[in-house]
Amino acid sequence: RNGVGILAMDIYFPAACVPQEVLEAHDGASKGRYTIGLGQDCMAYCSEVEDVISMSLTVVTSLLKKYNIDPKLIGRLEVGSETVIDKSKSIKTWLMQIFEESGNTDIEGVDSSNACYGGTAALLNCVNWVESKSWDGRYGLVVCTDSAVYAEGPARPTGGAAAMAMLIGPNAPISFESKYRASHMAHVYDFYKPDLSSEYPVVDGKLSQTCYLMALDSCYRQYLGEQFSISDADYCVFHSPYNKLVQKSFARLYFNDFMRNCSSVDNDAKEKLQPFANLTSEESYQSRDLEKASQQVAKHLYDIKVQPSTLLPKQIGNMYTASLYAALASVIYNKHSSLGGQRILMFSYGSGLTSTMFSLKLHDGQHPFSLINIASVLDVTTKLESRHETSPEKFIETLKLMEHRYGAKDFETSKDTSLLPQGTFYLTKVDSMYRRFYEKK
Ligand code: ACO
Repeated sequence: RNGVGILAMDIYFPAACVPQEVLEAHDGASKGRYTIGLGQDCMAYCSEVEDVISMSLTVVTSLLKKYNIDPKLIGRLEVGSETVIDKSKSIKTWLMQIFEESGNTDIEGVDSSNACYGGTAALLNCVNWVESKSWDGRYGLVVCTDSAVYAEGPARPTGGAAAMAMLIGPNAPISFESKYRASHMAHVYDFYKPDLSSEYPVVDGKLSQTCYLMALDSCYRQYLGEQFSISDADYCVFHSPYNKLVQKSFARLYFNDFMRNCSSVDNDAKEKLQPFANLTSEESYQSRDLEKASQQVAKHLYDIKVQPSTLLPKQIGNMYTASLYAALASVIYNKHSSLGGQRILMFSYGSGLTSTMFSLKLHDGQHPFSLINIASVLDVTTKLESRHETSPEKFIETLKLMEHRYGAKDFETSKDTSLLPQGTFYLTKVDSMYRRFYEKK
């Protein structure tokens, strides 16, 4: 089967958001700490009527409708999420309601979870299925859905929320290049969710940054075996917990190229990086001077190869499993008319830790599975512009309420749908048996 990959994409994110500049002032943080220090513009969050299930019901319904896909044509449905609503019942089973209606219950797949990596696991499963002997000719569907919320403190501004849906099949405009794939997996406690009574993670922020960059290095070095350098990628798309880490990641790839004397590194950059050439790898992760120097010399390439991917992650925040794919969607949205024949390097990271680097090849495609149509369905600008900016007080009040609602039963929501676009699913109640009920606006 030729060109297995992503045929179609859609994204949903909550209408409620809080601008980082306002949050920064409210939190008493120094000016620029969230906007420049973390590199974030705005943060989306779920109101009390939305959650990872409602968002995924919304995005799947929307994708099927906008690309005119008969629900009977889905043969595999995989969900990636790290937001736990039920320890046994997968989010996929809620989504089955959409398919049961059309008489299709013959759909393989369940949820995958490991921090922000679950979406990539789900995607690789679907791609592998289409490439395998078990494929029955139907489409795969991948859903990445998460609500990222943190306890009060420095991690709180790195929250966010969204759901992505991706249709998988052969002859895709966004296809996998199986030659380039590398993983790095290890046991660490950098970010984890051991407290089952709380939605918030336990996080060692500094360690998680270092683990992320070490995983990036490890994956990239395996690519280097294939004589790969950043000149071979037209765009580099990273999992994006906050934009500053993406800037550091690209700079790190550039430093790797420098250490291998690649032609992608010009003479001026070589001179500026030379003082760091003899650092041990451990020292290199701790050196702020190296971080600054490599970010500076890589900046002109960052603007071309990375910046187009940062639109949604900077505006929405960390979407955990959806984050990498919202960054990919940003490239498609911004650059759809010039992507034919180009290559996108992808890096997926999930704390704990799991990571994979892989490569996508772009083709213009044919309607409805064309880059131009995907960009039009994503409709990013309209979606961003129709959002509702709320005060930090409203955001904090919502998080407080959700702390009580998490794991609770026997309550009704406000059913306030005033901010929701037509066609959005929302939570109406959780009954005495913890059963959740949703309706569509
Ligand atoms: N103006 C400009 N920059 C500023 C300002 C200011 N007023 N104040 C601080 N900064 C800069 C700092 O210099 C630093 O930049 P640098 O890293 O380039 O040197 C940056 O802001 C961050 O500041 P720190 O003091 O280093 O860290 P902070 O206490 O703000 O915490 C952190 C940041 C660790 C990312 C925290 O938000 C966190 O723990 N987040 C969750 C964990 C996470 O996302 N990890 C990533 C991988 S795992 C995952 O995806 C969940």
